[in-house]
Amino acid sequence: MVSPFENSLLEELKRLKEENLYRYRIFLFQKGLKVLCSNNYLNLSNHPKVKEKVIQTLREFPVGSGASQLVSGYTQIHKELEEYLSQLKGVESCVIFGSGYLANIGTVSALFGKGDVIFSDQLNHASIIDGVRLSQAQKFIYPHGDVPTLKKLLEEHRHKYRRCGIVTDSVFSMDGDIAPLKELNLLAKNFECALIIDDAHATGTLGYSSLEYFGIKPEGHIIQVGTFSKALGSYGAFVCGSKVLAQYLVNRARSLIFSTSLPPPVIAASIASLEILKDNPSLISSLQKRAQFIKELLIKEGFNLGFSLFITPIVPIIFGSEEKTLKVRDCLFKKGFFVQAIRYPTVERGKARLRLTVTLEHPTEVYEKFIEILKKCL
Ligand SMILES: Cc1ncc(COP(=O)(O)O)c(C=O)c1O
Repeated sequence: MVSPFENSLLEELKRLKEENLYRYRIFLFQKGLKVLCSNNYLNLSNHPKVKEKVIQTLREFPVGSGASQLVSGYTQIHKELEEYLSQLKGVESCVIFGSGYLANIGTVSALFGKGDVIFSDQLNHASIIDGVRLSQAQKFIYPHGDVPTLKKLLEEHRHKYRRCGIVTDSVFSMDGDIAPLKELNLLAKNFECALIIDDAHATGTLGYSSLEYFGIKPEGHIIQVGTFSKALGSYGAFVCGSKVLAQYLVNRARSLIFSTSLPPPVIAASIASLEILKDNPSLISSLQKRAQFIKELLIKEGFNLGFSLFITPIVPIIFGSEEKTLKVRDCLFKKGFFVQAIRYPTVERGKARLRLTVTLEHPTEVYEKFIEILKKCL
């Protein structure tokens, strides 16, 4: 017997199905299937040196860390990763979080509260949106990348609040464009705000950070969030900035305080990936060149890639209709390629897309073949 509670859930799921917004997890391990939508941009999650370091670490450390960072879960290897990353990024301090989602909700809600104000880009990642909601600060959502509108909002509202934060993805996860960080940084300075940058998709694709890409020096008001889970091929996240920021987060970020710290082997994988990146900076330029090549091919074939930039590895192939996007995804799947359909609420209604990613995992010929099959599916 289905309970009334389950019935109410079933009703909502039925509605999602009717609107082509129902989701299920696709099990991907069919032999030969080419998965072209992972964020493993530099293919470091398959790197032999990363795997070797994980195995070595397992011999020395326990599998799990056993406690949160503030109890007994902050080990020598956690500290080593924070210090190494701080050095590579040229910042005073970095603090590790369990994931990018936890880093964003923990950081934004720790730094801002009632009486504060946050200005957030319209296309920011869900974890930023949730962090803003959790914080209970006053929020203003500015149109995507729109510096003049943001300036007007700051002029009108900034003075009414105590702390102020401007928060943005650097590389936008579903669109592959880049925030105007130079202009945002100027506004942050002029209006005495913190600038919180989510480098989830910039770390290892634009450099160690988006600041580096723009030639912006780290300063006390700049807070860099990033993940180890995408180009670095591992798991977990970091928040980097000043010493006082690190001390504050360790005291106030609930997603850090009340959650078990990352397993040592995972930390080791992140260290190994950073070492590989340091020794092979050309990995980034290879990825960027490959992304440009593939985007140019798609544009030549008449595909709508929205406002994605050549340099980023994120390739939104926008169809608009949810139904059509799902059909194309399923057709590609049958022919050996998997590129996930991205729909509302991840993107706006009517802006459904396939989110292709360029990675070093597959040679360009695989992408050329993909485009050929995509045309056939259409
Ligand atoms: C822009 C952005 N921020 C944060 C996250 C969350 O990172 P994680 O997967 O490490 O939780 C993601 C992941 O999809 C992201 O795209």
